[in-house]
Amino acid sequence: MDTTRILDGKALAKTVQSRLRSQIEAALPQRNRPPGLAVIRVGDDPASAVYVRNKERACERVGIASFGQHFPATATAAEISAKIQELNDDERVDGILLQLPLPAHLDAVALLLQLDPDKDADGLHPINLGRLTRGEAGLRSCTPAGVMEVLKAYNIDPSGKNAVVVGRSILVGKPMALMLLEANATVTVAHSRTQNLADVVAAADIIVAAVGRPEMITADMVKPGAVVIDVGINRVGDGAGGYKLVGDVAFEEVFEKAAWITPVPGGIGPMTVAMLLKNTVEAYLR
Ligand SMILES: NC(=O)c1ccc[n+]([C@@H]2O[C@H](COP(=O)([O-])OP(=O)(O)OC[C@H]3O[C@@H](n4cnc5c(N)ncnc54)[C@H](OP(=O)(O)O)[C@@H]3O)[C@@H](O)[C@H]2O)c1
Repeated sequence: MDTTRILDGKALAKTVQSRLRSQIEAALPQRNRPPGLAVIRVGDDPASAVYVRNKERACERVGIASFGQHFPATATAAEISAKIQELNDDERVDGILLQLPLPAHLDAVALLLQLDPDKDADGLHPINLGRLTRGEAGLRSCTPAGVMEVLKAYNIDPSGKNAVVVGRSILVGKPMALMLLEANATVTVAHSRTQNLADVVAAADIIVAAVGRPEMITADMVKPGAVVIDVGINRVGDGAGGYKLVGDVAFEEVFEKAAWITPVPGGIGPMTVAMLLKNTVEAYLR
């Protein structure tokens, strides 16, 4: 396999992290404290536990202090709110992240609204989504920001290109479409009600798959020479009683047609973490 066409998010995330480490080292003498990121986790979702651990390790590597707080699944909205207020007021904390999903009795939208928008490390507060819509500066959602950083690093300019985003979630699809629009792409957003998805995707110069369906984007849907960004992370059986991670794109076959493609794992996943750290450092330096 000719790996020169693989968009290596893992390597790029390391580069971003070392840049952040240098920025922090340069700022420390004036600031007298490192940046701080607080991750609030509620309950015992095993995937969330892994994500939070990865984020805290990444913080340690670049020199960001972690102020994690783990609540039991029975925690009340009032308890989480009180914690958010405390972290909003804590001058050592530059970024706050509410790890989703929350247990069913908690309203994620209402809790996210309580975050100080300038500490919203995940870029999901309505104020920051509004700033994105208006093209104003603000903290950007990490996963789509990670996609844009990959395109930039590989000199792939979306300007004037047909970009098709498959998925319209507030976490990925919608902010992704806005960021591509901001970069002057002609953007189409496909979703579960889209008719003739294969035809819609086939018109794309840039495809971003953010669906959560293993390998649903197949080679016959992809225009030769397209740039294929796979945001999906799906656990599937590995045939030996264990599991493996695959994306929303049938990597092996699509690789043959794409000009560039992100792998899963090692593509947008590590870039999402890198963008979380970048948001925290941006909030710290501001
Ligand atoms: N790499 C990362 O760091 C990262 C970060 C976040 C998420 N992810 C992964 O990205 C994937 C998407 O996450 P999400 O949070 O955006 O998921 P989500 O909230 O479940 O949204 C999925 C989207 O896909 C659309 N969809 C579902 N079935 C479809 C179909 N057959 N054809 C076309 N569109 C379809 C849905 O359409 P409707 O709106 O019509 O229902 C929805 O808009 C998941 O695999 C998730 O694990 C990865």
